[in-house]
Amino acid sequence: MADPKIGIYGLGTMGAALALNMVEKGVSIAVSNRTDDMITAFSERAAPLGGDVTTAPDLAALVTLLPKPRLLLAMIPSTGPLDALLDDVIPLLDAGDTVIDAGNADFHATRRRAARLAEHGMHFVGLGVSGGEDGARHGPSMMFGGSSESWQGLKPLLEPIAARFEGDPCVDRMGPDGAGHFVKTVHNGIEYADMQMIAETYDLLRHGLGQETSAIADRFAAWNEGPLGSYLFEITATVLRHDDPLGAGPMVDAILDRAGQKGTGRWTAIEAVTLGQSATMIEGAVAARAWSAEKDLRIAAGAAFGAERATLQIDEADLEPALLAARVLEYAQGFRILAAASQEYGWELDFARIAEIWRAGCIIRATLLDDIAGAFRDGPPRDQLLLAPRFAETFARGIPALRRIVSAAISAGYPLPVLGSALSFWDTLRQPSGTANLIQAQRDFFGRHGFDRVDGQEVHHGPWWP
Ligand code: 6PG
Repeated sequence: MADPKIGIYGLGTMGAALALNMVEKGVSIAVSNRTDDMITAFSERAAPLGGDVTTAPDLAALVTLLPKPRLLLAMIPSTGPLDALLDDVIPLLDAGDTVIDAGNADFHATRRRAARLAEHGMHFVGLGVSGGEDGARHGPSMMFGGSSESWQGLKPLLEPIAARFEGDPCVDRMGPDGAGHFVKTVHNGIEYADMQMIAETYDLLRHGLGQETSAIADRFAAWNEGPLGSYLFEITATVLRHDDPLGAGPMVDAILDRAGQKGTGRWTAIEAVTLGQSATMIEGAVAARAWSAEKDLRIAAGAAFGAERATLQIDEADLEPALLAARVLEYAQGFRILAAASQEYGWELDFARIAEIWRAGCIIRATLLDDIAGAFRDGPPRDQLLLAPRFAETFARGIPALRRIVSAAISAGYPLPVLGSALSFWDTLRQPSGTANLIQAQRDFFGRHGFDRVDGQEVHHGPWWP
């Protein structure tokens, strides 16, 4: 049996799927888990694949199986348990070894952990992995953050297991320390906005136009064949076709309208604001999930103020161009956060490459991403998709359609936290003169905060005070 190339600790859903993917691609691995039952279950699943798998009863034994410099991938919660693992494993490792966190981690924690391991001459990699269990098993998109040295060691193991877009593996080094986990976080923020935009569209079709779920499924499936083609549109069509096996009617009607969230969308919004940015479409999606959880309040408010809505008058033909324009804006917001973080942390993120590795394997994979990669490759403006000449036509057609949809929906009483935000974002950024002069006047009035004058004169306060 060949020496294991990598050790994998944590054989839960995602860890086992990644490990099986490696076995299938001929990578020799050693595995372990906190509890024995998972090791046994994994061995049973790996056996038919016939690869090189060595099992170890615990973390210490796993480390001894690995040739130096060691590569140890942890797929356990990226919070306290990961810090506890580092406490245990650092004394067992040597300078030059690498620990990889393949979970959804807060990139601040990844930066802290990278600094901690660097003190021992070790590498810490934050690996963003997208695609859910199926992706991890058959080809995820992976966002690597860590030293160039650790990338050289891991690249030959990650490329074979990654999703491929026209032969190009969907994995790359984003930058050092937390860059990979940050890019994954923004990926998830975009995922939230895209999902909410789909849910808003569903609301208009289902409750506004009174269409059956099967007709809406057909609509999403048809859109999926065009420029809106994407994994999330595809699964929406599939989900809407299923009936409830425990009752009558569509499955979606049997599901409580309270959305869960593990936190990555919220992190994206927090980081955007911290960086002096704002990603209102992502924030709208996070807000929509939070409000959805307040079921009791919604019931009480509906009873108090009425839940009825007026007749919705939209032209369905407007939806496709409107959604496409909104999707470009959603990505534009995501990439603006990436640009701000890249500058703040000195990462030199390659936006075109990020779009490229999102083209397959990940949850937000979409036809549009090839064009987005192209827009970044076209040249300046490097970080403003809004101004990219390739999307001029998308906006010329899509924004008037979006405006008609949003106006009609809002007039009839349909909430659009994401689609409405898209339009406000657009309308704000296309105004060379905004209203912040009044905000500045107010700030100066109550706090003597000062302002700059349009004519550049060196007078920074208004004539408000005696
Ligand atoms: C992915 C997903 C994955 C997971 C999210 C869901 O890229 O594979 O984003 O990371 O599904 O954690 O997040 P929420 O529970 O916050 O919706």
